[in-house]
Amino acid sequence: MPHDQVPGRVRLVGAGPGPADLLTVRALRAIEGAQALLYDALVSPEVLALAPSACVKIQTGKRAGRASMKQETINRLMLRLARRGLEVVRLKGGDPSIFGRVGEETQFLHAHGIETEVVPGVTAAAAAAAQFGFPLTHRGEARRLLITTATTRDGSMLQSGWAAAADPETTLAIYMGRDQLPAVLDRLMANGRSPGTSAMAVENAGSPDARAVPGTLADLADNLAAAQVSGPVVVIVGDVTARAAVRAAPCRQTVAR
Ligand SMILES: C[S@@+](CC[C@H](N)C(=O)[O-])C[C@H]1O[C@@H](n2cnc3c(N)ncnc32)[C@H](O)[C@@H]1O
Repeated sequence: MPHDQVPGRVRLVGAGPGPADLLTVRALRAIEGAQALLYDALVSPEVLALAPSACVKIQTGKRAGRASMKQETINRLMLRLARRGLEVVRLKGGDPSIFGRVGEETQFLHAHGIETEVVPGVTAAAAAAAQFGFPLTHRGEARRLLITTATTRDGSMLQSGWAAAADPETTLAIYMGRDQLPAVLDRLMANGRSPGTSAMAVENAGSPDARAVPGTLADLADNLAAAQVSGPVVVIVGDVTARAAVRAAPCRQTVAR
């Protein structure tokens, strides 16, 4: 970096679940002021379109099994752009602190003397609950919300924490669990959660084409397979999901049965 150049800053911004009106005002301002924007696969075109036309836009993640940029490459890219003095926005679907690698990225940037700011976003579970009309906690019924992934870094199933997840007063929000769902639900039942517990898988939560697939621990995996979803899916386990009410406007969301 030349001596007279002030290093820029990196803002790690939550893009929410897709629709631009689910961005926070702070996220919107950050995107509108971005000079370089690195975005994940789950960021919607509607949100991306809010960035200035002169802003450098770099996609870092690809869906449908295609390769994503390596984390080390993303880190180096953010660093290089910030050292040029640019306002860099690292845009992530949902909330950046929930399975968004915000810890790794801020640690790397701080180690290289770059200032960061994290701007929160609406996470998939919150978007799903709001859209399909159920709460994530409910007085006297669901006293805890446990956000978990089903898989570890190497793709194998998570081994720990199943007893807490099986507690009937816990609402469980499972991210990145679509492919492991049959095994996850079996594990919950093996740990004592009732097979009749209500559950719901939500595809594309927050967006107008969101789809909810309801069921119980015993049949949700089959229901989801039959629904043939292709978008991102969050699975909510807990009797709060039995309170779901599908509302009409403004979203044309559907419940697959
Ligand atoms: C790497 S995690 C990112 C989570 C994100 N940071 C958030 O707060 O929503 C990706 C997983 O989040 C879930 N997810 C993200 N966006 C979603 C959406 N709009 N609808 C349903 N699930 C979603 C899916 O389980 C997906 O596999």
